[in-house]
Amino acid sequence: MNMEFALLNGEIIERSEAKVDVEDRGYQFGDGVYEVIRIYNGKMFTIHEHLKRFVKSADSIGISIPFTSLQLSEMLEELLIKNNLETGNIYMQVTRGTAPRNHVFPTGNVAPTLVAYTIKGVRPLDNLKSGVKAILTEDLRWLRCDIKSLNLLGNLLAKQKASEQGCFEAIQHRGQDVTEGSSSNIFIVKNGSVITHESNNLILKGITKDVILELCTKNNIQVQERTFSLAELEEAEEVFLSSTTAEVMPIIEIDGKKIKAGVPGTITKKLQELFEKEIEKQCGLLVDRVI
Ligand code: PDD
Repeated sequence: MNMEFALLNGEIIERSEAKVDVEDRGYQFGDGVYEVIRIYNGKMFTIHEHLKRFVKSADSIGISIPFTSLQLSEMLEELLIKNNLETGNIYMQVTRGTAPRNHVFPTGNVAPTLVAYTIKGVRPLDNLKSGVKAILTEDLRWLRCDIKSLNLLGNLLAKQKASEQGCFEAIQHRGQDVTEGSSSNIFIVKNGSVITHESNNLILKGITKDVILELCTKNNIQVQERTFSLAELEEAEEVFLSSTTAEVMPIIEIDGKKIKAGVPGTITKKLQELFEKEIEKQCGLLVDRVI
C-alpha cells in the first residue's frame, strides 16, 4: 500500500506520525476552525475562496495562522501530489494550540496547531441524479454559525437524527425561519426564483452557495438572498442543498412529503449542469457527469 502523508505545522510527514497533544485546545474545547476543499482531477476547486474563509474564521476567534495563504496553498498542493489524490477532499484545521487546560486563552507564545490531510472520495453521482430525502429539525446551534468552527455538536445531533430516519440531511429552522442544513446550505425555487438564506451570523457562507448564486446571476436565473419560512419550503417548486462534497444536490422529499412530483426540478438540474461546467473550467474535464 502507498504511504499516506499529512501536513502538520508546515511539515509534510507520514500520516501515522501526525499526532497532537491531549491538551490541544481543538481536542479539548473545539477551539479552532476548519475547511473542507474538493479535489477534482488532482486540482483544488475554489481554493482561494476556501483559504480566504479559513483566515476569516480564524481571525474571528483570534487565531493568527502562522502561514500566508500562498504558503498554505503551496503546501496543500504538495500534499495532494505526495498522496497522489485525483478525486476527494482535503480536510484542514487550525486550533489555538496546546496549553494547560483553561477556558481563558493561553498567554505567551502558544503556537497554533495546523493539520491537513487528504480523503479519497468519488462524486455522489447516484444522489445527485435521483435526489435525497431530508427531515426538519429546530436549529439548536449558537449565534455565530458564520464561523466554520470545530464545535459541531448541534450539527452532529441534527445529522444523526436525519440519518436515523433514513435521510441524507436535516434542514434546520429557528422558529418558522429556515436557516441551513446540518452540513449544507438550503435553497428553494419559488415562482422561478432561487431563494436562499442571506449570509449572516445564522448560517455558514457556503463557498458552493456563492458559486451557485454567481452562476444564477450570469445565466439570468432570478435570485433572492433572504430568509424564507417553513411554509415557503413546503410549497416550493424545487428544493436543493449545496456543499463542497454534495455540490448541487436535489431534495425530493421532506419529512416524508414529496416536493411536487418528487423528482429533481428543472432549475436544480440546470444549476447542476452549470456547476459541472464551472468545475471543468477550474479543474479540467470530468469523466462522469450528472447531466
Ligand atoms: N460543510 N453550512 C454548514 C453548516 C456546513 O457545514 C457546510 C459545509 C456548508 C456548505 O459550505 P461549503 O459550500 O463551503 O462547503 C453550509 C462541510 C462540507 C463539512 O463540514 O464537511
